[in-house]
Amino acid sequence: MRGLKDKVAIVPGGATKIGVAVVEAFKSHGVKVIVADIDAENGAKLAGDDVVFVPADLRSDADIARVVQTAKDSFGRIDFLVNVAATYLDNGAESTRSEWLEALDVNLVGSVMLMQAAREELRKTRGAIVNFGSISARVAQTGRWLYPVSKAAILQLTRNQAMDLAPDGIRVNAVSPGWTWSNIMDSLTGGDRAKTDAVGADFHLFPRVGDPEEVASTIMFLCSDESSFVTGTDIRVDGGYTAMGPERAEPAIPRLMD
Ligand SMILES: NC(=O)c1ccc[n+]([C@@H]2O[C@H](COP(=O)([O-])OP(=O)(O)OC[C@H]3O[C@@H](n4cnc5c(N)ncnc54)[C@H](O)[C@@H]3O)[C@@H](O)[C@H]2O)c1
Repeated sequence: MRGLKDKVAIVPGGATKIGVAVVEAFKSHGVKVIVADIDAENGAKLAGDDVVFVPADLRSDADIARVVQTAKDSFGRIDFLVNVAATYLDNGAESTRSEWLEALDVNLVGSVMLMQAAREELRKTRGAIVNFGSISARVAQTGRWLYPVSKAAILQLTRNQAMDLAPDGIRVNAVSPGWTWSNIMDSLTGGDRAKTDAVGADFHLFPRVGDPEEVASTIMFLCSDESSFVTGTDIRVDGGYTAMGPERAEPAIPRLMD
């Protein structure tokens, strides 16, 4: 893809499965990466020639400043910001004020503060930002309020950022993944991908969950010059989840004749 080689990306949340796929995709395209994550153990494993790990909490402005400074000191420029980090903290209708504020702080506000800190560098390189929405941004899900609301806000934030950063030549888009093979699925199923695919099958036109690499390749497109006129939108990497509405992948009419 054009316009990736020798560039520099910051990936908050890069220590998780989806984040690692993004880091690996960037590396394969010759992009240097700053990974910022509170997970110091897994983040440190990614460090190498063209990857620098910075332990950082997105709720801390001092940490955010350190991430941006490290990118400038290590690689001399910032081209891309890919906001993978998120918390699944959510107690639905029972969520407390502090839980609301924490979820929004990590999922929404932290990425905005990081954008502010990196904006001048992104302006110099006419860079690109990719935010993470989700299928959860568009549907009601039982017992979940904080996460879906924060993901819906991210899609609106993406439109706002795209408008006000366009004069700086910075494009801002989002990806909205469907169920994607990730740490939470790995731990809930004891690493059983086949079981995960079987449960996910009802909700996606392709009867499985997505691979982290399928999300990462869409992000590469959104960072590359191949998407130079794409801004303010999101790409649904969801195997058709949102195309179905309340329908299921199994035909409903025959059930009337059972
Ligand atoms: N897994 C899915 O099916 C799915 C579906 C749709 C969207 N997404 C989105 O993909 C992204 C990755 O999801 P995941 O399932 O891999 O999540 P995950 O919880 O496994 O990973 C999130 C990462 O963010 C980091 N993080 C959390 N709080 C942080 C903080 N305060 N500061 C810095 N880093 C912090 C964690 O350490 C972790 O590395 C998220 O934005 C999520 O909303 C995931």
